[in-house]
Amino acid sequence: MSAENSDKTLQQLFQNNRQWAEKRITQDPNFFKRLVNQQAPKYLWIGCSDSRVPANEIVDLLPGELFVHRNVANVVVHTDLNCLSVLQFAIDLLKVEHVLVVGHYGCAGVHAALSGRRIGLADNWLRHVKDVGQMHERYLGDALPTAKKQDRLCELNVIEQVVNVCETTIVQDAWSRGQNLTIHGWAYRLENGLINDLGMTVGAPAELAIAHTNSLARYQTEH
Ligand code: CO
Repeated sequence: MSAENSDKTLQQLFQNNRQWAEKRITQDPNFFKRLVNQQAPKYLWIGCSDSRVPANEIVDLLPGELFVHRNVANVVVHTDLNCLSVLQFAIDLLKVEHVLVVGHYGCAGVHAALSGRRIGLADNWLRHVKDVGQMHERYLGDALPTAKKQDRLCELNVIEQVVNVCETTIVQDAWSRGQNLTIHGWAYRLENGLINDLGMTVGAPAELAIAHTNSLARYQTEH
């Protein structure tokens, strides 16, 4: 096969794949057999599509341990059947115990929403992030340096997406039947590979307003 053909058929990726599968089997001969029979992840990750934020790798979890939904700027929209279907499957069938809404600093989608820079079709999707910015305008004042505002909108976006997850019928119903389920808001930093817990942790309907107020409180004292 010529080099040109091999490029078209992405031979490198198939080679990587074979090596990866071999390595897994060497470490654990029953690895794939076990996964065929069942998946029992404890966590659902809702994150950004950004290639620098690979869900499993960041928290060092194996296949079978993390259920994942990713979209541009980790947005949870009340009418997004794709995200809602993932949420419903994860909570009702897989019985995950934690939903992790994970944004990241340096998110191009969030930056575009803040600056008003046009990207294309995704501008309509990022409208949801602009809504978050408008809702929390007082924390994004002109006096703040741009980098600080960008970081803040990344965090505020996560906090509001946690609210959206909590307000879905799926999560509300799970809580009302007594299912053990906690929603978390985290932000990942590309520069050091570390996750920052935003303190937006909600395990029952009554905890939502308090967690929301507390997680926003730091912006009132911080300038
Ligand atoms: Co992003």
